[in-house]
Amino acid sequence: MQLLDGRALSKKIEIQVADEVKKLKDTCGCTPGLAVVLVGQDPASAAYVNMKKKACDRVGFYSITHDMPQSISQEAIEKTITMLNNDTNVDGILIQLPLPEHIDTTKLLELVAPEKDVDGFHPFNVGRLATNLDGFVPCTPLGVMKLLEEYNIDVKGKNCVVVGASNIVGKPMAALLLNANATVEICHIFTDDLKKHTLNADMIFVGVGVINLITQDMVKDDVVIIDIGVSRTKEGKLVGDVDFENVSKKSSYITPSPGGVGPMTIAMLLSNTLKAAKVNAKAKADMETNI
Ligand code: GUN
Repeated sequence: MQLLDGRALSKKIEIQVADEVKKLKDTCGCTPGLAVVLVGQDPASAAYVNMKKKACDRVGFYSITHDMPQSISQEAIEKTITMLNNDTNVDGILIQLPLPEHIDTTKLLELVAPEKDVDGFHPFNVGRLATNLDGFVPCTPLGVMKLLEEYNIDVKGKNCVVVGASNIVGKPMAALLLNANATVEICHIFTDDLKKHTLNADMIFVGVGVINLITQDMVKDDVVIIDIGVSRTKEGKLVGDVDFENVSKKSSYITPSPGGVGPMTIAMLLSNTLKAAKVNAKAKADMETNI
């Protein structure tokens, strides 16, 4: 069994991003910028946003967080997003999810300019991913693909079972795997007999937030396990969706959780923001040469 070390790879990616930020600053004086919209007091969301901000600082990005109260109106958030769409210092916009119930999340995600949609949640980018065209890809599944690539794990022709069908993780994960020529099944809350599917899987990608959902009897020998779940036990310990201790004994490769996919998500946010900044820097340079 080999561990897929997301912490180590994310550090490597951060160094590469920081290097490119320096070059960008030297060549055109551009500093990549990320704006985060955080609504309410959810401690998990606040913790994630804080980690994202620290990562931005480490690589030399400009970052700004728009902290908004739980009771804020739809119109006020829309106004902020429109302002960020027009702000030339902002290359990427991220709306931390989930949002309060009175907020129309879809409408907000659709308001983000697709070229600043570093989360890859805008239907424009969702469609580009579905048709295997370049665009912004959601950070968590993109991080999983990078992790597999780093360890030379090829998904082509493999039976890949994705457990969870969210717009943030499961669906884009399945799309990326399909684009990489895997055979893909998506299981979800209404799947009966999950075990029937997982037992047939060469690789399992699970991100639903259910502790010990995947147990040793549900996997075949030498399976590759990607644990995208993060939950806190009653004792306060962070764990994934997989019974790591027992499933790891049957796995060829497995991600720890925490320390596997989580750090990769943040690394991909940096990478997506850099990608957006490079496009903007090029547009700026083209404009200057045309003057
Ligand atoms: N909430 C949970 N995961 C994510 C994510 O990847 N992006 C955003 N914006 N919100 C999240």
